[in-house]
Amino acid sequence: MNITSKLPSVGTTIFTVMSKLAADTGAINLSQGFPDFDCDPALVDAVARHMREGRNQYAPMQGVPALRQAIAAKYQSLHGAAYDPDTEVTVTSGGTEGIFDAVAAVVHPGDEVIVFEPCYDSYVPAVEVSGGKAVVISLRYPDYAVPWDEVRAAITPRTRMIMLNSPLNPAAVILDADDIAALVRLVDGTPITIMSDEVYEHIIFDGARHESMARHDVLRARSFIVGSFGKTYHVTGWKVGYVVAPAALTTEFRKLHQFVTFSTNTPIQYALAEFLTEKRGYPELSAFYQRKRDLFLELLAGSKWKPLKSRGTYFQLLDYSAITDEKDMDFALRLTKEHGVASIPTSAFLYNQSAPKVLRFCFAKKDETLKTAAERLVTL
Ligand SMILES: Cc1ncc(COP(=O)(O)O)c(C=O)c1O
Repeated sequence: MNITSKLPSVGTTIFTVMSKLAADTGAINLSQGFPDFDCDPALVDAVARHMREGRNQYAPMQGVPALRQAIAAKYQSLHGAAYDPDTEVTVTSGGTEGIFDAVAAVVHPGDEVIVFEPCYDSYVPAVEVSGGKAVVISLRYPDYAVPWDEVRAAITPRTRMIMLNSPLNPAAVILDADDIAALVRLVDGTPITIMSDEVYEHIIFDGARHESMARHDVLRARSFIVGSFGKTYHVTGWKVGYVVAPAALTTEFRKLHQFVTFSTNTPIQYALAEFLTEKRGYPELSAFYQRKRDLFLELLAGSKWKPLKSRGTYFQLLDYSAITDEKDMDFALRLTKEHGVASIPTSAFLYNQSAPKVLRFCFAKKDETLKTAAERLVTL
């Protein structure tokens, strides 16, 4: 039986393709963004303890109170932002669910949503499945700065939302204080909402500050801020995240969350609540990943790979123009099959712009993995 696709241009994601190719060929997988090392064993013990103690039935729809309170306390201490755990914090089944529900809560058929490319692959489908139109604005290679004049020109009476991601996957750049000022000037006094994907909030380098939407009144008042425990606690497979947003936005958000997943894994929420309350893991995460970034770059020094600046996330873009003229997809496939290192071509994150000659490598890997991968890469 044939049905009319709501997402005709969507196929298997590049992450699935490259991870499968890496598994089939035995290549080192620096493609999909997940650690190849274990999380803190105490976190696993805590989950097991909560399971044994019988916390195995549905959690409250909005999330376990202890976890919502810990999330609100974190925003207060890091950003001086007061979120009410009862009415403004929702635990979701990963950041992906949070993004989808935020878009679906706001976007009506015919509405426009401003999206910056390169962008995470779920953004545009989330807009389109709600009948919205993604207005894609290109961040320009190689610094990926936001062209705020273009954003201003793209705003129409139908603009319902701006989707942001800082630190940015795949380009590893961050919004700075000037970007925030430009954004405030743009949205102040308008009905435009913001979906701010901050899943890499705790992975930010060289002493820079994470400019959360929560820090700025005009932005906080209109933002759904999306977080992910998968990134922060090295447990991407657990798929637990959260969304903080003002009460009126959260009310609509929860109507979606209620019927998309209803609630999120119970024992994991209890364990995460303990870790977050004790401020475990996240304060040292930037230093942990900055060391891995620096190790990876040191190992590649003197090779034909030219690194772009990685300011946050656990990704590093490498310019391969001194190695080959191939398109990024062709080269990424050949690099996996012939040289045993899987990466992600940035064309997978682009809609309008042609892809530059760079590949994205994930350095959330054991030092040995990075060393073996670099030994292979430097031979090119
Ligand atoms: C930019 C960005 N947003 C959202 C997500 C999804 O987060 P989660 O795994 O918690 O669904 C990812 C995961 O790779 C990501 O890179």
